[in-house]
Amino acid sequence: MNYELLPLYNSSEKILKKSNDCQLLDADGKTYIDFESGVWCCNIGHNNKQLLKRINNQIKLSIHHGYHFRNEFAEALSLKLQQLIGFENGASVFLSSGSEAVNLSITIAKHITGKKKIIKIDNSYLSAYGYGQISDDNDSLVNVKYNDLDAIRKIDFNNISAFLIETGGASVEMVKFPDKEFISALIERCRENNCLLIAEEVTTGMGRMGKWFGYQHYNITPDMVVTGKALGNGYPVSSVTVNAFVLSEFQKNPFRYAQSHQNDPLGCAIALETINILESGQLVEKATATGDYFRNKLEKLKARHPQKIKDIRARGLMLAIEFTSFVNGEQIGKQLFENGFVVGSKLNTLRFLPPLTIKNSHINSLINQLNKMLADKYQ
Ligand SMILES: Cc1ncc(COP(=O)(O)O)c(C=O)c1O
Repeated sequence: MNYELLPLYNSSEKILKKSNDCQLLDADGKTYIDFESGVWCCNIGHNNKQLLKRINNQIKLSIHHGYHFRNEFAEALSLKLQQLIGFENGASVFLSSGSEAVNLSITIAKHITGKKKIIKIDNSYLSAYGYGQISDDNDSLVNVKYNDLDAIRKIDFNNISAFLIETGGASVEMVKFPDKEFISALIERCRENNCLLIAEEVTTGMGRMGKWFGYQHYNITPDMVVTGKALGNGYPVSSVTVNAFVLSEFQKNPFRYAQSHQNDPLGCAIALETINILESGQLVEKATATGDYFRNKLEKLKARHPQKIKDIRARGLMLAIEFTSFVNGEQIGKQLFENGFVVGSKLNTLRFLPPLTIKNSHINSLINQLNKMLADKYQ
């Protein structure tokens, strides 16, 4: 069927009409509970009233900026992010998408170190294009096998500018968290070789994993932090925040980089308000409590269906349930959608990254539905 769109990904036939917090309403009047937060963006829920008010106020003032003026929203947002990260006297730049921010962080790392390549863990997704793209043509990328200590010893650090650390890969392998020992060993080698550490927080940031940033679950002091997605709660704004060292190296040898929507006031105002709402609603802390509740429920489901569920993985509100090989996770994902639950699915795994505002009652509904499906099918 032709909907005038390039068929670059698949979607259902349903049209989304309205969204409110964790609920979505389609054109047929059917409701869904969103366990994907869009594409893992809406950490404070869809159409948050306080955020809408801020957007309404800001669009009356200024949406787009240009390069002739300073921008107080971008400056305030940079200070706020530095405070959450623990940087002093660093700096930020704001772009539109995660891919843009990842690529700019790599450009900065390459420029400062004079080295051309970057390291990522093989289950990480960094960007849709450019230096972070997963593609055979990308000769900037050195992939290190997930949790493989031997692989670290074999890395040739000769030309490596940075390690982009994603502490919860949600896409490539459906929610996996690297071991602390593996990350420490890799970071030690990076530091010995003057390789910069970039915390890639496009998905793991903004409270998703029960801390402001996923790297805060590890003993990591990054040189740069990249965010996107939930920074604007679905509005396209992303960031690169650098520490004082990177800033001073950049100042010694600066380059010009300008995009039309760089540091635009609307995106920055939205991000400031999103952070404000996360803070005042204590949603980062709630992600831990609700995530524990959710994990517990999934573990109980596993105990009830030991032949069908192989593994539960969870940190904060990033969770996955991996079925045994004869349970078709993609089919279960489709059935859940028909029953009013939006979840991620790939092969035999389901993924859940709901808004941090998700209620225990929503989780109970999902678990009951899953329990019913597993009891009815795959006997
Ligand atoms: C970890 C991670 N980094 C970067 C990106 C790219 O972000 P965007 O799609 O906003 O360009 C994504 C997108 O899914 C992601 O999951």
